[in-house]
Amino acid sequence: MNTNQIQIFDTTLRDGEQVPGCKLDTQQKLVIARQLELLGVDVIEAGFPVSSPGDFHSVQEIGRTVVEPVVCALSRAVMNDIETAAASLKTARRPRIHTGIGTSDSHIQYKLRTTPDKIIERAVAAVKYAKSFVEDVEFYAEDAGRTGNEFLARVIQAVVDAGATVLNIPDTTGYCLPQEYMEKIAFLRDNVNGIHKCTISTHCHNDLGLATANSIAGAQGGARQIECTINGIGERAGNTSLEEVVMIMRQHESLGMYTNINSKLLLETSHLVSESMGMVVQPNKAIVGDNAFAHSSGIHQDGVIKRRDTYEIIDPAEVGVDESKIVLTARSGRAALAYRLKNLGHDVTKVQLDELYKHFVVVADRQKEVGDNDLEELMGSVAV
Ligand code: KIV
Ligand code: ZN
Repeated sequence: MNTNQIQIFDTTLRDGEQVPGCKLDTQQKLVIARQLELLGVDVIEAGFPVSSPGDFHSVQEIGRTVVEPVVCALSRAVMNDIETAAASLKTARRPRIHTGIGTSDSHIQYKLRTTPDKIIERAVAAVKYAKSFVEDVEFYAEDAGRTGNEFLARVIQAVVDAGATVLNIPDTTGYCLPQEYMEKIAFLRDNVNGIHKCTISTHCHNDLGLATANSIAGAQGGARQIECTINGIGERAGNTSLEEVVMIMRQHESLGMYTNINSKLLLETSHLVSESMGMVVQPNKAIVGDNAFAHSSGIHQDGVIKRRDTYEIIDPAEVGVDESKIVLTARSGRAALAYRLKNLGHDVTKVQLDELYKHFVVVADRQKEVGDNDLEELMGSVAV
């Protein structure tokens, strides 16, 4: 792997599926896993096998099906979880166990009711046990975002020494600021011996709307894997959105980072996940929302009709969107009206356009959007 390639670890089928009411069955998961492979993700987190027989079966079937991506199964730092994860991964060509434990004061004191030293012991034991089944073991330090850097470095040093291959530094509660998260990753990179043999991973939640920014900041701090989901789905406010981080790296070449993702498949993958889960994508969602390439105000429409990049930084075709939309509303101007009429085969003169526009705004004030049928009616009813 080139050092500037960012591995895309997709957790749509594990953390993404933790969305209340959006459960997928094995068949649906297989369809999504095949699509993720086509999309070019490097790692598919297929599930949490100890959680239910159905999830165990899904991980097994995904392992049997996909060829290229690493197939990863989640486990707590609990021996039975690890054994179950290992058993579910027997079918996988490239298996990875993802094990870990909470490291913040809040998790140690209130959730796990133990001591920092015991956390390190359990982390090391989990990694060593997982290593007895598979070579590729990822360790997560849950709530690393709220864990002091000195203690976090002690935990990470211990699991590096125990043989972890990937080090996941989750901002589980979506608390960090980008600069803070970047510094956390950089601190580990600079203070843990032997860390350069491992891949550092980001795993950011979106409670403050910062998951994408934090993931990119983490990569700037030295992470080389980003954990994310299609459409940013996941617990509470969700996880980092795959399509956003991928397109940020593409749009900002100065970051010097790239991924293996075929961006032309982003929209169809988004639709597949949204439909399978019955989870609507917000219209203004970056990259894949219905309005991501729609222009409705006259000022913007005039610019975009003259030259697309006046108001669009991404060519819609690059993410699998057919074309930008010029939506006719009461805020639209003559340029947009003429453009849409032309698309319907009506080439009108300036005088005709002025006349049509007077009638158009009346219709537009009455309804949210003026469609093709309304335009045909307008052409029929106005003497031009
Ligand atoms: O958010 C989180 O900390 C997680 C871990 C289980 C990786 O999802
Ligand atoms: Zn998570």
